[in-house]
Amino acid sequence: MRKKVTIVGSGNVGATAAHWIASKELADVVLIDIIEGVPQGKGLDLLEAMPIEKRDSHIMGTNDYRDTAHSDIVVITAGIPRKPGMSRDDLLNTNHGIMRTVVGEVIKHSPKCIIIVVSNPLDAMAQAAFKLCGFPRERVIGMAGVLDSARFRAFIAEELKVSVENVTAFVLGGHGDTMVPLPRYSTVAGIPITELIEKSKLDALVQRTRDGGAEIVKYLKTGSAYYAPSAAATEMVEAILKDKKKILPCAAYLQGEYGISGLFVGVPCKLGAKGIEQIIEITLTPEEKVGLDKSAAAVKELCGVIGV
Ligand code: LAC
Repeated sequence: MRKKVTIVGSGNVGATAAHWIASKELADVVLIDIIEGVPQGKGLDLLEAMPIEKRDSHIMGTNDYRDTAHSDIVVITAGIPRKPGMSRDDLLNTNHGIMRTVVGEVIKHSPKCIIIVVSNPLDAMAQAAFKLCGFPRERVIGMAGVLDSARFRAFIAEELKVSVENVTAFVLGGHGDTMVPLPRYSTVAGIPITELIEKSKLDALVQRTRDGGAEIVKYLKTGSAYYAPSAAATEMVEAILKDKKKILPCAAYLQGEYGISGLFVGVPCKLGAKGIEQIIEITLTPEEKVGLDKSAAAVKELCGVIGV
């Protein structure tokens, strides 16, 4: 039987995720939104592209959660995006309200699904979804580290003029200004980038990664990034549906790992058919640990504001 992925929110991130997932023939896709007509229109448009793409993924758009029943994965992108000058945190209360309605509907129709949260502020929204759904922690995952490390990889590849395929990068912590890119664990063909890029240049790439979302918002003015965020969610969907046991940086609910408890923070996770199958703990330098703790404190503060 075909796998089924529901995408909540038919805005730019949701619709583009549907596009990537369908064009990789990973699953049938249901695009759902409260706005009437938009998910139906975008869903139909994508369906009509499939003969050209030679893909047998079925895509439909709907406003009715009954159509989402028995989804294997539900990707939640619903929420308002940032405008220039806004931080991800400014979206907190509005998007928490949206999350309440969405998660209730999702679990009613797909009680066994794995939830991937993409809405911002990411870590706090993942925590809200986790508390609202009551699923085990393996089945609620936040998308952020794949995006942040992809940005870091793109900048490293551009700087060194090497293939993006040669570059792996590592980003820990929350999806915000306090995220912790780890140059020490970022490599080009196995060579640590600290050997290849001088410190001041590397610091600039790290800062550009931290500001990666804001850089796009500044250009777009009326919204935030969507190609890379949706591609990142798609990589997570693929790892789960194909049971790849792929290690990706994801926001996960920590229970003592990295000395943090009861909080969603970005850490390396093994993704497979069960969702998060393992959280990988690596040794951090004191400086990196300070960075991670600072990032976790920022997430905790936001969670406190909405009481999750
Ligand atoms: C970004 C938003 C989606 O980082 O959080 O682009």
